[in-house]
Amino acid sequence: AKTLTHLAEQKTLESSFIRDEDERPKVAYNQFSDVIPVISLAGINDIEGGRRAEICKKIVQACEDWGIFQVVDHGVDTKLISEMTCLAKEFFALPPEEKLRFDMSGGKKGGFIVSSHLQGEAVRDWREIVTYFSYPIRNRDYSRWPDKPKEWKEVTKEYSENLMGLACKLLEILSEAMGLEKEALTKACVDMDQKVVVNYYPKCPQPDLTLGLKRHTDPGTITLLLQDQVGGLQATRDNGKTWITVQPVEGAFVVNLGDHGHFLSNGRFKNADHQAVVNSNQNRLSIATFQNPAPEAIVYPLKVEEGEKPVMEEPITFAEMYRRKMSKDLELANLKKLAK
Ligand code: SIN
Ligand code: FE2
Repeated sequence: AKTLTHLAEQKTLESSFIRDEDERPKVAYNQFSDVIPVISLAGINDIEGGRRAEICKKIVQACEDWGIFQVVDHGVDTKLISEMTCLAKEFFALPPEEKLRFDMSGGKKGGFIVSSHLQGEAVRDWREIVTYFSYPIRNRDYSRWPDKPKEWKEVTKEYSENLMGLACKLLEILSEAMGLEKEALTKACVDMDQKVVVNYYPKCPQPDLTLGLKRHTDPGTITLLLQDQVGGLQATRDNGKTWITVQPVEGAFVVNLGDHGHFLSNGRFKNADHQAVVNSNQNRLSIATFQNPAPEAIVYPLKVEEGEKPVMEEPITFAEMYRRKMSKDLELANLKKLAK
C-alpha cells in the first residue's frame, strides 16, 4: 500500500532527512538580507524616455553579480497571484489519500510527491511538491493535474500563461544586454518549455539538521519564484562561504538564471546557487516556474567576445546537458556516502 511519510507528524527527524554538517543551514530562515536587488519593471516599454535602458542596466548588473534578483510592478495581476497561492495551500491541506491520487513516485510525469530527491540519493528534502507541465501546450497531461480544489486547472492555466509572458519579457532584456536581437534567447529555447513546481515546506521539529531543498542551480534558462512572507530561500555567490536569506517581498517574483542562461551568455550571467531552509514555526509555500529550452535545443554560447574562450567545449543538446548534470550530482552524492 502507498504510504505518505507524514512530515508533519515527525517529532524528531527520521535519519533519512539528516544532512551532513557541511550541508546544514548556516543562516536562519528569517535573518533577511536585502543585497539581492528588487527591480521595478514599471515603464519597461518606455524606450524613448530611457526607462527601459535603466531597467535593463539593473537586471544585467544583478545577473552578473548574483544571477538572482526580484521583480515588482511586473504586470502579473495581484488577484491571480493570491488565487494561485490560496489554491496551492488548499491542495496541500487535503487528506493524504486525495493528494496520493496524483502520486508520481512511480516515475509519472507530473503530480504529487513527498520529499522529492534524486533517485539513488541518500538524504531527503523536507518538502511536499505538486508539479505540472504547462508548455508547450501539447505537454499538458490534464490527467496528472490535480482536480481539487476544483478551480485548480483554470487558475493554474492562467498563471502559467502570465508567467510565460513575464519570462519572455525578461529574456528580451537579457538578449538585448548581450547585444543580440531581442528574440535571441527565446529562439535558442526552440519551443520553450514551462514546468511549475509548487513547494510546501511543513514546520520542521529540527530545522538546523535538514534542508527543505538542497543546494543546487536550476538547469534551465530562467526561473520565476513566488514565495510567501515566511522566508527560507537562500543564495550564495562565493561558492558557499556565505549564504544570505532572500528577503520576501509581497507580490514580487524572485528571478534566477539557470545553467542554460549561464552557458548561453558565455558565463557572463551567473547561475545562482540556492537552497531552501525550513523552520519550526510556520509552514512555507513557494511556487517555482521553470522556463526551459526544448530537450533538443542546442546549448552553446550565443556570442563569444573577442579574447574570450567559450565556457563549453562543444555544443550539446539540453537533454544531454541535463543528463550530464544529473549524473555528476549523483556521483558527488555517492562519493560523499563512500567517504563516510
Ligand atoms: C527552488 O529552488 O525551486 C525553490 C526554492 C524555494 O522554495 O525557495
Ligand atoms: Fe531552484
